[in-house]
Amino acid sequence: MAQQQFIPKKYNSTIDSGKVSWESPSNIALIKYWGKKKDQIPENPSISFTLKNCKTITTVSFSKKETQAYFSFEVFLDGEKKDDFKPKIETFFERVEVYLPFLRAYHFKIETENTFPHSSGIASSASGMSALALCLMSIEKQLIEANNALGAVERPFNEAYFNQKASFLARLGSGSACRSIEGDLIVWGKTKQIEGSSDLFGVKYPYKVHGNFKDFQDTILLVDKGEKQVSSTVGHNLMHNHPYAKNRFRQAHDNFETLKPILESGNLKAFIQLMESEALTLHAMMMTSMPYFILMKPNTLEIINKIWKFRQKTNLHIGFTLDAGANVHILYPKNETAKILEFIKNELVAHCQNGHYICDQIGFGARLIKNE
Ligand code: DP6
Repeated sequence: MAQQQFIPKKYNSTIDSGKVSWESPSNIALIKYWGKKKDQIPENPSISFTLKNCKTITTVSFSKKETQAYFSFEVFLDGEKKDDFKPKIETFFERVEVYLPFLRAYHFKIETENTFPHSSGIASSASGMSALALCLMSIEKQLIEANNALGAVERPFNEAYFNQKASFLARLGSGSACRSIEGDLIVWGKTKQIEGSSDLFGVKYPYKVHGNFKDFQDTILLVDKGEKQVSSTVGHNLMHNHPYAKNRFRQAHDNFETLKPILESGNLKAFIQLMESEALTLHAMMMTSMPYFILMKPNTLEIINKIWKFRQKTNLHIGFTLDAGANVHILYPKNETAKILEFIKNELVAHCQNGHYICDQIGFGARLIKNE
């Protein structure tokens, strides 16, 4: 099995303590991941733009402990202890333990902060889980290098392997997190349309991408900043026994076939059509599952209708996508920013909760901040 490659040879926890920090971004899917099998294997391939400004900054301090009988860690968000984050991290540790055999040897202090407000309705799981996975990878790298210095022979720890394993681990925390390690276009999920694609980790989109997609902008309109109505776990489960699931999963593969020439030729009109269709399909799946959900709010629809009218009137290349919630991501090429941002401010911000929106753009992945 391919996941075996991520199980390291035995090494000793020769380092007593240390501290690592990473910042890792969120991402926005163009072809959506919705539905998963056991062990965080996606039912269909997905592709996303990595973002730049919406990110999580995580510091993990580790110190050796006496017993290896249990995991020991504490979590802080913005300096405040967050015990309600612990179950998710405990599950993550259980899933990745076989790949990171040092997890029981240390006590971990996990300190995390987001550049976007926690209650913005923006999922922090992609940036949060990828940042944590990267911190754990940096610790493993330190340990393996220390062991190698003492004469052990572990595989060379090159950047490609580091990123691939970080993506593999992040996926076990939250599926979409595996698309946040690198940028700018990342594919996750095996499909014959994309050479090298895998269900186990994200890979860089390997084909030609037209200059039209460089510096793409994503303005996120915060329509509803409340708690998620449907957790992603519940949401993905709704695809089991869903009457339209099989066709939807096939459609995602087909959409990759459609997307390839669009990305190559820079056809923005066709790009917008595919992206909006994907977003509405995701919501259609939720409306037609049992139980069923409507995650859009009246303001989501107001915004969509205004975008469509504005696009018809101006011929500008403005389009939207949605995640599993009411917020709207507005995507457009950088050279149309002035007119589109003016439209957003004049016409759309009124539909946002407290007038809140976030300006983001395509990014190139996570960054190591500290490794000591
Ligand atoms: C609608 O990655 O949050 O954003 O694997 O259960 O953590 P888990 O799910 P998650 O699902 C995200 C789904 C989506 C679409 C996407 O990002 O592809």
